[in-house]
Amino acid sequence: MEVYDCLRSRLTIRSFKPDPVPDEMVTRILQAGRWAPSSRNLQPWHFIVIRDREALQEIGRIATSGSFVAQAPLAIAIVMEDADRPELDAGRALQQMELLAWSEGLGTCFVGLRDKEQNRKVKEMLGIPDRMDLITVLPFGYRLDNVKGTGRRRKPLSDIAHAERFGQKYASV
Ligand SMILES: Cc1cc2nc3c(=O)[nH]c(=O)nc-3n(C[C@H](O)[C@H](O)[C@H](O)COP(=O)(O)O)c2cc1C
Repeated sequence: MEVYDCLRSRLTIRSFKPDPVPDEMVTRILQAGRWAPSSRNLQPWHFIVIRDREALQEIGRIATSGSFVAQAPLAIAIVMEDADRPELDAGRALQQMELLAWSEGLGTCFVGLRDKEQNRKVKEMLGIPDRMDLITVLPFGYRLDNVKGTGRRRKPLSDIAHAERFGQKYASV
């Protein structure tokens, strides 16, 4: 899949085929994250691969904005070491994972875990050291056949693109 097509068609996916994700595919997703750029190339990330059904169900119970994790065949937790701007580095890595997964027929959804208590509970069950940040748990699975990759709601480019100075319309949109 062309990069532009991948970017344009990608959607957040919250329901998955039950089919298992093969090990080679999981490794490709992890490699896509590993190749991401990071501030000062510190690569302050850890990726926890979760396949255990009970663990996935427990995460789905804890994460109120991610109950669908319970139905996914796989999830990857994105964990950051003490870093200056952990969310930026994490975002670079997980977006690469998401796009690679999309190009291979899989889907995922960023599960926020912003609630402190929910975040603490998931950290505890995954054995994540206190000093580290749990950014998200990304469920992964093959997409259902009826997912459409077009017609997403996005602000028009004319609302967000500026020419030279803020407020000057970018003429070619
Ligand atoms: C930082 C961030 C946090 C998000 N948190 C959640 C979440 O907790 N639960 C959820 O269902 N979707 C979550 N999403 C998915 C967004 O709702 C989704 O990306 C957005 O509606 C745009 O849809 P699209 O990804 O299909 O283009 C999150 C996305 C981002 C980038």
